[in-house]
Amino acid sequence: MLKGTESKELQPKLIMQGRRSARNIQKRSQTSDQSQNVASKKMKKTEARVQIYKVQSLFRNGVDLLLRSDEPHVEEVIETIFKEYYKNVMPRLPLKQPDWNKMDSVGLLAFLDIFNTAAEKFKEEVFQRRRALLTPARWQKVHLDSDSFQEGHLVTVLARMLSARDERVLKKHYKSFSSETYGATTTQQMKNILDQLNVTKEDVIIDLGSGIGQLVTFTASYADVAKTYGIEKCPRPAEIATRVSENFKRLMAFFGKVPSPYKLIEGDFLTDENKERIKKATIIIANNLLFDDKLMKKLKEIFYFCNSGTRIVVTKLIDNTRMTEDNFSEHFDSYSDTVPLNGIDRQVEWTKNNVPFWVTTMDQEKVFRVGAEYGAQKEEQEAKLEAKRLTRAQNAEMRNGRNTSS
Ligand SMILES: C[S@@+](CC[C@H](N)C(=O)[O-])C[C@H]1O[C@@H](n2cnc3c(N)ncnc32)[C@H](O)[C@@H]1O
Repeated sequence: MLKGTESKELQPKLIMQGRRSARNIQKRSQTSDQSQNVASKKMKKTEARVQIYKVQSLFRNGVDLLLRSDEPHVEEVIETIFKEYYKNVMPRLPLKQPDWNKMDSVGLLAFLDIFNTAAEKFKEEVFQRRRALLTPARWQKVHLDSDSFQEGHLVTVLARMLSARDERVLKKHYKSFSSETYGATTTQQMKNILDQLNVTKEDVIIDLGSGIGQLVTFTASYADVAKTYGIEKCPRPAEIATRVSENFKRLMAFFGKVPSPYKLIEGDFLTDENKERIKKATIIIANNLLFDDKLMKKLKEIFYFCNSGTRIVVTKLIDNTRMTEDNFSEHFDSYSDTVPLNGIDRQVEWTKNNVPFWVTTMDQEKVFRVGAEYGAQKEEQEAKLEAKRLTRAQNAEMRNGRNTSS
């Protein structure tokens, strides 16, 4: 059930992102586009008037979802909720299962009317029987083949769908191959990053250049952390991010879930206020592959002041120059350790090239160890030279002694 051409790419691509590699998505998108296209023709827009689609929340503490018929991808969002979240409970309700391929907007309103009445009854019955069917954990186990990744992924995807008619405008809007080039890290990649970093309640995460904010909302749903910030300076994605945030809150309310605290900020991450935020973060994410040298130099100057233990995830090394005895006291590697983050799909939406992920851990004491090592190496070299000088002098003396005695 799709309305417009812009829906064709976005919905299947985003929803499946969590389960397939980007390459698979690319391969299959053509087929799924074709079938979705057939479905789209079935969707007759019979009403120009704005309608309200209401979807009963079957989640404990969940708030019913009220969606306007003129919101982007609204019908796909509803279809996804039924297919992904309500699939197991639907057969338990006394109603005819919907045929989504034949659904139009009039049919959808009628179906939701019937569903909402049946769902209301179902909830009453469940509560009367005092069955704890609707606790989030039980619900997840019994009714959804779902885990917290899939929930976080889907909530983020649905929020994105409701927030932009066509995300491809971002690619047109951004300058190609510049610090502002847009490139989305997937929720699956972000999950792997968060898992590998073993994030805890103490962590404050910041995404430098957060685009439309999908990593921030995903983290707020998936991880129990102190706070997640996203900072984006380009107005177009920042504006979409504001809507993503609002829609994410609506959807989380529908699922009866409370996200961990987060904030999406429109602005430059180089302002004094944001520099302070960066210095206080415990985990910094920077999809910086295309950040230019000038920007990386400025970022590096901020990172120098991050506390020991702060972890910085990057897609391009913060400093790829060689460290020597002469430059070590300024070299970034004297204040940090960098290792590749393995096990993360290296494909991103915007380039066919593999994108590496690195994690740099700050260590402000390391410079003393590096200094001591260079000092020890120097001493060793000087000792070797001294030993050589001595040997040479002794040899010369012996030669001289031999010459005088003969
Ligand atoms: C490659 S995108 C990454 C989007 C998102 N973090 C992700 O990985 O999905 C890089 C983003 O950094 C933003 N950016 C570049 N310089 C910035 C700055 N000085 N302050 C804030 N955002 C910036 C760009 O506008 C762009 O949206």
